[in-house]
Amino acid sequence: MAPVDVETEKSITLPPPHFVLVPLMGQGHTTPMADLACLIVGRGARVSLVTTPVNAARLRGLAAMARSALLPLEIVELPFPPADDGLPRGSNDNSDNVLQLFLSLYRLAGPLEAYVRSLPWRPSCIISDSCNPWTVGVARSVGIPRLTFTGPSCFYSLCDFNVAKHGLLHNGGVVPGMPVQVELSKDTWAAAFLTCMPAWGKFVEEVREGIRMADGAVVNTFLGLEEQFVACYEAALGKPVWALGPFFLNSRDEEARAVDQSAVIAWLDMMDQSTVVYVCFGSLAQMLPKQLYEVGYGLEDSGKPFLWVVKESEIVLPEAQEWLQALEARTAGQGLIVRGWAPQLAILSHRAVGGFMTHCGWNSLLESVAHGVPVITWPHFGDQFLNEWLAVHVLGVGVPVMPFGNDKAMVRGHIARAVSELMGGGAVAEERRIKCKEYKERAHGAIAKGGSSHENLTLLLHSFMWSGSKE
Ligand SMILES: *[C@@H]1O[C@H](CO)[C@@H](O)[C@H](O)[C@H]1NC(C)=O
Repeated sequence: MAPVDVETEKSITLPPPHFVLVPLMGQGHTTPMADLACLIVGRGARVSLVTTPVNAARLRGLAAMARSALLPLEIVELPFPPADDGLPRGSNDNSDNVLQLFLSLYRLAGPLEAYVRSLPWRPSCIISDSCNPWTVGVARSVGIPRLTFTGPSCFYSLCDFNVAKHGLLHNGGVVPGMPVQVELSKDTWAAAFLTCMPAWGKFVEEVREGIRMADGAVVNTFLGLEEQFVACYEAALGKPVWALGPFFLNSRDEEARAVDQSAVIAWLDMMDQSTVVYVCFGSLAQMLPKQLYEVGYGLEDSGKPFLWVVKESEIVLPEAQEWLQALEARTAGQGLIVRGWAPQLAILSHRAVGGFMTHCGWNSLLESVAHGVPVITWPHFGDQFLNEWLAVHVLGVGVPVMPFGNDKAMVRGHIARAVSELMGGGAVAEERRIKCKEYKERAHGAIAKGGSSHENLTLLLHSFMWSGSKE
């Protein structure tokens, strides 16, 4: 079947396909799904992006943009029922806050089903974040297909699938069924596949089952980056896997270029090409003052220019604030410290940035690679450990801050060494930069008309062309 562009097919009388997108709500997880929504409506299909009242505020900009551009994108605010219904709940352990959030979203099943039933037509498909396994029941009950959006790399999703399939969730060692060598220590394994947190067991199993039962998977990656893992994952699932990324290159990259008025960008403008290391550990990871100091001293010791984003919550103690001010005074001219939020895409696309020290959340890693910026990897949680493996051992674009399998505490020496290694001269560092530039080219090629991500979206839209029906 030749790929058919939906834009041209619209002239025939079929209504455009309609997708109901169900993101993981909270903590900025909604962002890739909002980008996906833009991508789909940009191709003429219609999208309902589901949200809760608390999260709706974050999507106001997107809603306004869609209205002014007359795009068929609707933000649907579902009422959030109170927690009195005997649905699954984790322990009260503080480390389980994230789990609590995930489980609280199960309460949206009823409101989502009511919304879908209230529509005058049947939507073509639900695309649900894999961390919302409760959508399995909704899709079945209303009788429409469901695709799963897996947030991490396809590499991670494949590892997780294989490890679960072989009943090796508690092991350590070599990950089975992979086309490349992947080997983790027992502790890293438990952290990567979440068995280190027994309270998560039932939820994680439901997520895996929700992926296995879906009608296909949508991944935020591109074939030029992860082709062999996409192919293996498709074979493992026995379902189509659509690689449509990087989602943000279509929408927010434009926006990133528009924020060039900020002080951060003005500072970067003064720096030489590819000399600055950007340091940011994502929205969830929280550093203790002790760790914060090691990072700061390590950056100072490296002697390289740095742009470091520190969360407000990490410097609530007066001594931490004083320490940071002293560091700022000592490193004036070498470094810039940003408290709170920084425009990451604008930073990564700035010519002065030559490296990114990251926690290896998939969005951050993909953003870095798609902008041709090699990474220093410091994973904290879950899929980040395997994203690190992908960056360092498979793609060849990363330097681990800690030697693999070394669980000694992080100290300034590790940071300084990793920064020098990444930002320094020499053939190995140069090779990393060249590879990363190549991935950048491929990322832009993938989303351009005729590129693999563009084509995959055409095929995805095409396969749901006839499935929505007016009733
Ligand atoms: C995505 O595109 C590739 C190459 O263009 C193609 O081989 C593959 O079948 C497509 N995937 C799906 C799920 O349509």
